[in-house]
Amino acid sequence: MSKKEFPENFIWGVSTSAYQVEGKEDRGVTTWDVFAKKENAIADKSDGTVACEHIKRYHEDVALIQKLGAKGYRTSVAWARVQPNSSKEFKLSGLDFYKKLANELLQVGITPSLCLNHWDVPQWFEDAGGWSARGNVNIFVDYADFVTRELGNLVKIWHPHNEPNVVAFLGYGWGLHAPGETDRNLALAAAHHLNLSHGLATQAIRANFADLQIAPIVTMQPIVGGSSEEDIEWLDQLWNRCFTDPVILGSYPDKLAAALAPWLKNDDLINIKQPIDFFGCNHYTAMRAAHGSPLSVYITKTEAGLPVTDMGWEVNENYYFQQLMEFKTRYGNIPVLATENGCAYPDTLSENNEIHDTKRIEYYSKYLSALHRAIENGVKVLGYYAWSLIDNFEWSFGYTKRFGLVYVNYENQERIPKDSFNFMKKIYNSNALYE
Ligand code: FCB
Repeated sequence: MSKKEFPENFIWGVSTSAYQVEGKEDRGVTTWDVFAKKENAIADKSDGTVACEHIKRYHEDVALIQKLGAKGYRTSVAWARVQPNSSKEFKLSGLDFYKKLANELLQVGITPSLCLNHWDVPQWFEDAGGWSARGNVNIFVDYADFVTRELGNLVKIWHPHNEPNVVAFLGYGWGLHAPGETDRNLALAAAHHLNLSHGLATQAIRANFADLQIAPIVTMQPIVGGSSEEDIEWLDQLWNRCFTDPVILGSYPDKLAAALAPWLKNDDLINIKQPIDFFGCNHYTAMRAAHGSPLSVYITKTEAGLPVTDMGWEVNENYYFQQLMEFKTRYGNIPVLATENGCAYPDTLSENNEIHDTKRIEYYSKYLSALHRAIENGVKVLGYYAWSLIDNFEWSFGYTKRFGLVYVNYENQERIPKDSFNFMKKIYNSNALYE
């Protein structure tokens, strides 16, 4: 058996997000509540009304994080708790839950980190054009300012957006996520406004407390095949470079620069390129490009015969390694936090109420070994957050896909740690992977 040690002070953590786990109590209506009501939007016609009742059961969930040996917990603030009705009013009590959660985590030595937009924007924001409307950028910045002013003494790590590439292109281009639009111009406008709001929010957050760490989070997938070289290149620019190049390098790559020109104003690129403390990299699989409207390209299915998870996503840890190395080559040696990685498999309860999820263990073992290889090859990785602590509402797939290290019985909200929980516990506590 070989032992792969991770660097000293490596942070092992877990991630969730507000809409996927909290439940609706005391929250205003979000774009996902409305999207979920559309016909065929969600595989099991569910929504986040109940989810995992994290808002009520967080004591139990923090205890699970502690039991796992995780030292970091990343979740998100539900904007619609803070501004349920309009941009004009702020509801301070909407932050009570996050204060209690952060205090409880800190008491047991777990570092909280919060994302300000993990997709569940208030419906009033979406009704006003959501991310496609430039006038909405400052509304997000004001919200980011308010939340960090109130919570910045407790929570020191902030992520303005989670995966803006998913929001812009799945939300406004391919119509698979809220708000379900399929319009090229809306998608491109949204992409640029998400970038601008990242930059302006970063400036506002920094002005509130000097000791906060701010990092964007993008999901990066190498494009490993597709209809043509041109389609592969365009998908790569849209997916992997649209939210990293301007933030880190201060410019859009050529094809994007041309496509986004109508929305770009004077100082936008200067405002977007703000110092970041590290880069949050989410990664699950590789992607393949196919030609088609409205963005000229879309993500197509994995070829038959390759090993896939329950999402149909190819399992190949070499792509994780490749992604991290490409990031280093393109952007220099910026510290990276692996903010999400994980897999869905159809878990079933055994007679003894256990989950023997060997496939998930194999996945984690392979992907962590690739991460280790990237570290050995010079990528500065600060830590690794598994997606996810618990099974939860998996967006357009509803509750049909399980990503948790902990199983959730949605009949009674019982939490049952899976075998993978114990596998990760060993890694988290020893700071090493045994193979
Ligand atoms: C990521 C999302 C996260 C979860 C995982 C499976 O793209 O950030 O909320 O849905 O995928």
